Amino acid sequence: MTDKIYDVPAEWAKRAFLDDRAYQAKYEASLRDPEAFWADEGKRIEWFEPYSVVKNTSFAPGNVSIKWFEDGVTNVAWNCIDRHLPTRADQVAIIWEGDDPSEQRHITYQELHDEVCRFANVLRNRNVEKGDRVTIYMPMIPEAAFAMLACARLGAVHSVVFGGFSPDSLASRISDCSSKVVITADEGLRGGRKVPLKANVDAAIAKLTDIEVDHVVVVRRTGGTVNMEPGRDVWYHEAAELVTRHCPAAHVNAEHPLFILYTSGSTGLPKGVLHTTGGYLVYAAMTHQYVFDYHEGDIYWCTADVGWVTGHSYIVYGPLANGATTLMFEGVPNYPTNSRFWEVIDKHKVNIFYTAPTAIRALMQGGDAPVKKTSRASLRLLGSVGEPINPEAWEWYHRVIGDERCPIVDTWWQTETGGILISPLPGATALKPGSATRPFFGIIPEVVDAEGKPLDGPAEGNLVIADSWPGQMRTVYGDHERFMQTYFSTYPGKYFTGDGCRRDADGYYWITGRVDDVINVSGHRMGTAEVESALVAHPKVSEAAVVGYPHTIKGQGIYAYVTLMSGIEPTEELRKELVIWVRQEIGPIASPDLLQFAPGLPKTRSGKIMRRILRKIAEDEFGNLGDTSTLADPAVVDDLISHRQNKK
Ligand code: PRX
Repeated sequence: MTDKIYDVPAEWAKRAFLDDRAYQAKYEASLRDPEAFWADEGKRIEWFEPYSVVKNTSFAPGNVSIKWFEDGVTNVAWNCIDRHLPTRADQVAIIWEGDDPSEQRHITYQELHDEVCRFANVLRNRNVEKGDRVTIYMPMIPEAAFAMLACARLGAVHSVVFGGFSPDSLASRISDCSSKVVITADEGLRGGRKVPLKANVDAAIAKLTDIEVDHVVVVRRTGGTVNMEPGRDVWYHEAAELVTRHCPAAHVNAEHPLFILYTSGSTGLPKGVLHTTGGYLVYAAMTHQYVFDYHEGDIYWCTADVGWVTGHSYIVYGPLANGATTLMFEGVPNYPTNSRFWEVIDKHKVNIFYTAPTAIRALMQGGDAPVKKTSRASLRLLGSVGEPINPEAWEWYHRVIGDERCPIVDTWWQTETGGILISPLPGATALKPGSATRPFFGIIPEVVDAEGKPLDGPAEGNLVIADSWPGQMRTVYGDHERFMQTYFSTYPGKYFTGDGCRRDADGYYWITGRVDDVINVSGHRMGTAEVESALVAHPKVSEAAVVGYPHTIKGQGIYAYVTLMSGIEPTEELRKELVIWVRQEIGPIASPDLLQFAPGLPKTRSGKIMRRILRKIAEDEFGNLGDTSTLADPAVVDDLISHRQNKK
């Protein structure tokens, strides 16, 4: 933490929708009378039939139920496209910047309409109906957004799976929500390298035992050779030629499911986080407007992938609901050079730039020169998301990227929250590097102690949210029990975020990171249990324990302790083989950074692995192991310490 405070720049106070007083007044209004507040905000989208009930939510133990605008009828694609056509048909909706700097596309709202309708018709011809689940496994090309919006147009429920996931991970996600249709591309392109998406889909489908995929729609991206299964697989460009560019938007209820997005928890397989239509869109649009202070004509760029919630809410739905121009980038920050982000900003005159701390830290290592050779004069606002931003990275982002001119909005939220819950507003909030600052409208954060008692004033503890907001997830797909158990049982009656948090004397929130067995690697969320089960699936592994450790670029790195089957020799080759194994089982984002062979793991006498000790060893804090008196075999710990792997 630093004591430095950055006041709202004078021109921001003038330009922004809200200054500090307006923020305070609006925040108070949102808590005083949530019904009236959200009844009003709900009007920021168009409804085919208006709502009469605004908020009908309960966090009651065993009976959690969340409904917003429940009798309203609308359509997300209609709101993101059709309603803008009278005024914005020729305005650019999506700027696409390819992996190769020579490739770009500009898609107007009219073109977006036509493309989305065609895509919807292609899906309709493959029997996709209201409520059906469709899995989207795509690179960052405009067709990914068209596919999402096409599902929304039909009232189908999309499940976007990040293109970096393995066939196994894809298969379990297709199966969990029983998607009959998968949308993919021949290959993806990132940093000049090809990603075999269609081949991965083929491999995933071959693993399915419980359901059958009827159709695979394949968008041509690279033109690489792929296997096309007759009767099942169809080229999108061929199917699209046979359909019109008109497709009615389905009328769906506010609580009709919009999408499922799988995310990791402390235990078990990733959960299908379910978001619905009305409340989600109102909340995504509203936060996009105020947090990024989005004004007419601004060029806005969020560098996330559509495979994550940030891509859903802040590349596609929030910006398009606001009639914005949103930039979609296929590539990576360091290709062809470390200047790429800043060159893209200059090329497209980006005003608002939203990225992750891990990217900032990686680019910071390359020094100021790659930045300083670009102008970045168009930039007005910077954003950060996905993990705590360390003050050094914040200062560099502010000083070098933003030339000390641009406020930084450090936005805290989660897949489950649908949109930003804690963040500065650029015209209203004085900034403290490393703090996500204050709650958004309608959000009641509380810092609680281990017993769940809310703490007043400056305090440190766990972060819970005391009441519902419209963008909140509604359930875990197909498992409402698990939803209630995961989020509402630790502190009954409150939504538990899984994050630790400190509130300072100014009422600012500082997120300290996860307090459960979830780790955050380069802003990618992962359950340690997932990596462990991938490791023990290897025939030579008998047991594995995985923890996070501080990593200068990734935020957290993955540290794996592995016990081998008896008689198996720990060798360098085997170490490499296990790392590759995890990559193949889950995907490259899950590769262990450090892997230590451990003849034994520290366990209690009842056989429970003491992760606290493993964490301390991985964090290099041997002197501070805490109470080890309950260990069955204390000698195990000395052995682990003496063979600790060194950080890269
Ligand atoms: O630990 C918090 C961290 O990311 C987690 C949510 O991850 P995910 O669902 O993948 O969503 C990421 C994008 C919204 C949180 O529980 N996190 C996210 N944003 C921040 C953050 N930690 C600190 N500061 C943030 N701004």
